[in-house]
Amino acid sequence: MRPLVLERRLERIKEVLKRRQKDLVLFVDDVKNEHNFSALIRTCDAVGVLRIYYFHEGGKEVPVNESVSVGSERWVFLERVEDKVSKLKELKDQGFQIVVTWISEESEDFRRVDYTVPTVIVVGNELKGVSEEILPLADRKVKIPMFGMARSLNVSVATGVILYEAERQREEKGMYEKPSLSEEEMERIMERWAFEDVIRRRRG
Ligand SMILES: C[S@@+](CC[C@H](N)C(=O)[O-])C[C@H]1O[C@@H](n2cnc3c(N)ncnc32)[C@H](O)[C@@H]1O
Repeated sequence: MRPLVLERRLERIKEVLKRRQKDLVLFVDDVKNEHNFSALIRTCDAVGVLRIYYFHEGGKEVPVNESVSVGSERWVFLERVEDKVSKLKELKDQGFQIVVTWISEESEDFRRVDYTVPTVIVVGNELKGVSEEILPLADRKVKIPMFGMARSLNVSVATGVILYEAERQREEKGMYEKPSLSEEEMERIMERWAFEDVIRRRRG
């Protein structure tokens, strides 16, 4: 028999997995700052994003700051990508629309997009934004309206704003009530996460 504590933990993981949106993906193009990256992960966990792809120039892993992420990196899949164009093409071929954040006149208001269909949201580097090579792959280019002196938001704030619009639309459609993962997928992920969780707790 499993101890009650473990039983409760598994139940909680299962509840989270039931609401994970496997067709809502974040693609992070070279975000350098560890606080920004950690805050992005935390928001993804909150809205049910299961998978984050990230490109990071240079050899170093993006360090996650646990006081910002509060451990949420354990509950999403983080995959580093070397060839961002190929990865986005692959996702497009799988039927995802590619929504690129792009601060320019030609971009449309982010609220005009339907995020209830399979969607990849692409966000960019703190200084340079999303790299231009990605633009030809964009199905939609979106911006968050800005009326102040600054021309852009912090990347983690912008991501939060867009992800919560996606969350609003998906909640309205009842997409958090019906799991997007199959029972098998949930079992597999649960086993892995529960195992890693136990190891981490034992280490203290
Ligand atoms: C600080 S901004 C980059 C600024 C850069 N000079 C540019 O023009 O893209 C970093 C990232 O935050 C997101 N972002 C910031 N403000 C935004 C806005 N108003 N609309 C859409 N995305 C925004 C985008 O993903 C952007 O690539």
